[in-house]
Amino acid sequence: MSELSAKAQGTAICPGTFDPIHLGHLDIIERASVLFERVVVVAAAVSGKRTLFPLPEREALIRAAVAHLENVEVDSFDGLLVDCARRVGAMAIVKGLRSVDDFQHEQQMAMMNRRMLPEIDTVLLMTSPDAQYMSSSLIREIWALGGDVSEFVPPAVAEALESERHQSQQE
Ligand code: PNS
Repeated sequence: MSELSAKAQGTAICPGTFDPIHLGHLDIIERASVLFERVVVVAAAVSGKRTLFPLPEREALIRAAVAHLENVEVDSFDGLLVDCARRVGAMAIVKGLRSVDDFQHEQQMAMMNRRMLPEIDTVLLMTSPDAQYMSSSLIREIWALGGDVSEFVPPAVAEALESERHQSQQE
């Protein structure tokens, strides 16, 4: 194997709220799975915050979206991300960077996480251009106002949003 095609040794985690997972997230996860031997996508429990999808459903939707990626696993965490990184044996946190607006917050978190767990590094991947404007909160907003979001999300998420809409219309 040439040096260029060699994967980084070890495990990376891709954390997020994933409420719901969208194609921008998937772009980062797919690219992380090329770079690292093992990738664990970890959904944050975000206790105390209301989410559209409860944690088990967010995890199931991630699982469906990454089913084609052999070296990708799905897990969840409550509490500090560095504790989760330690638990799964990760050497890196991989996140997407959409714009300069993301940068300041990501830099701050990367530095704090490194301070708490010096063995961990944050790898920020530039989001692909066609996913640069996507965010779960905008997708939820467009969906809540009756818009079609199927071009932004994996098929399983589009179906889940559709059935959620039917359910809320019947209530
Ligand atoms: O999808 P999001 O909302 O951008 O994900 C943010 C997330 C969950 C990755 C971030 O809030 C996080 O790492 N939360 C865990 C709590 C934690 O470790 N806080 C200290 C960060 S320095």
